[in-house]
Amino acid sequence: MHIKFTTANQTSKPVLAVPVSKGKKMPAAIRKLLPAGLVTQLDKIAKSAAAFEGEKDQFLWAHHVKNGTAISSVLLYGIGDEASFDAIQDSQKTGGQLFVNLNAYGTKDATIMMAPVMDAAQCALGAKLRAYHFDNYKTKDKEKALPKLKSLAFATEAAKQAQKDWASLDGIANAVYLARDLMNQPPNICTPANFVKTARATMKDLPVKFTVLNEDKIHALGMGAIEAVGRGSRNASHVLIAEYNGLGTAAKGKAKSKPIALVGKGVTFDTGGYNLKPGSSPFGMMGDMKYDMGGAAAVIGALMALANAGVKQHVVAIVGLVENLIDEDAYLPGEVITTMSGQTVEIVDTDAEGRLVLADLLTHVQKEYDPSVIIDIATLTGAILIALGQNYAGLFSNDDKLADGLFKAGQEIGEKCWRLPLDAATPATLKSSIADLVNVEPSRLGGASFAASFIHQFVDKDRAWAHLDIAGLMKANGSNPICPAGAMGYGVRLLYQYVVDNATNG
Ligand code: BES
Ligand code: MN
Ligand code: ZN
Repeated sequence: MHIKFTTANQTSKPVLAVPVSKGKKMPAAIRKLLPAGLVTQLDKIAKSAAAFEGEKDQFLWAHHVKNGTAISSVLLYGIGDEASFDAIQDSQKTGGQLFVNLNAYGTKDATIMMAPVMDAAQCALGAKLRAYHFDNYKTKDKEKALPKLKSLAFATEAAKQAQKDWASLDGIANAVYLARDLMNQPPNICTPANFVKTARATMKDLPVKFTVLNEDKIHALGMGAIEAVGRGSRNASHVLIAEYNGLGTAAKGKAKSKPIALVGKGVTFDTGGYNLKPGSSPFGMMGDMKYDMGGAAAVIGALMALANAGVKQHVVAIVGLVENLIDEDAYLPGEVITTMSGQTVEIVDTDAEGRLVLADLLTHVQKEYDPSVIIDIATLTGAILIALGQNYAGLFSNDDKLADGLFKAGQEIGEKCWRLPLDAATPATLKSSIADLVNVEPSRLGGASFAASFIHQFVDKDRAWAHLDIAGLMKANGSNPICPAGAMGYGVRLLYQYVVDNATNG
């Protein structure tokens, strides 16, 4: 979709969207820009529509308006109380809903007038995020499913600034698209190897350095946990490392910069292994477990967005890509594995595979990159869905500043997370009678916190680390204002924003 920002006269195109605030009031700034006759007509139409109050989420079409200009159809859209309109999140949501309404009408292009309280670039981001569609496998009626709306102009006095902001926001949208594509791909296509291929191909023109660890390397490095989880699949496990150094080659004499590490769970399909998942559960169908690489998609997407925007920060993303299947080679409940850290783990449940993958990734990234901060992100537990539902990711951390930074970033851009205690599951429950650790504690109480504590065992003392459990956010429940049904790509924007907020100036 082509997006532009303009200060030009709004009357040259047939379809126009016009904001109306609470109480059916068209903002004064907007009234001034439109022909007086048209304003009178729109006021009348709004007045006669009993259900249209100018509240958020309300839309009203006015067709065949006559005013001596090219405008023939006007979409009135509610923005509610201007004083409580959130310039970022409400602009995004409104943008997404405007896309849906304009597209449903069937117009190819439209102009959207921005109220002064709106942020045009954020509105465009919302529209682009909502316009995402995944129909690679449709062979019939494909044309019909494609969006008709091809071009959107956002009319705002701040067009110049919006155009500037759009450069990085468009990059973010493209990164969210990548994350959603990776997630929406069926598991027979998005295998570990294919994830690597797609990520590399999409970022080929960006200053990102890729390192891929194949199964021989995974074995040689002693990543016994990742090896165990992937053992039952014919699709080879991969560890993908993508490094972006926006600080450039550090100035001579300066100490090498310590990166921020982003660590993602990339289980391209999770059957549960021998502790087989049921066909369906309160958490969804087993087929949804193609989204179990959502953490990996988020960190790769965030890295892409950061590289796109040229953010001044050094970031390394590492993802563990495996399939958790059943096979004669698959790992067994009861077996004991040795992780890269040297700690041994008794496998109480093969379905608790994500924490095992993260364990070895954490050991490796600390050893190789000595990061200043580590954030891992994973579709880790059903328990987090029970605790927080589908609007908040679970946040666990050993560092208040890092936890606050993530919380703040999430509140700002609307990918929210909520901190939960790391010590809810007592340390004693982590102990195995025959190994150092168990991967699951039989009572299952505080399951999300237990999983976080387990991962914590693989974090160096004194290293700032946060864990985001995004099991509740991997897919949109139906559609939402900025995402059609399917993968949300949650985490791309949160991680991007956290890094930006904490970027140095070189
Ligand atoms: N990938 C699942 C977690 C999950 C569940 C994500 C529902 C999205 C929706 C994870 O690997 C898993 O199976 N976790 C188990 C852990 C249990 C065996 C302790 C769970 O939560 O049931
Ligand atoms: Mn599992
Ligand atoms: Zn899983």
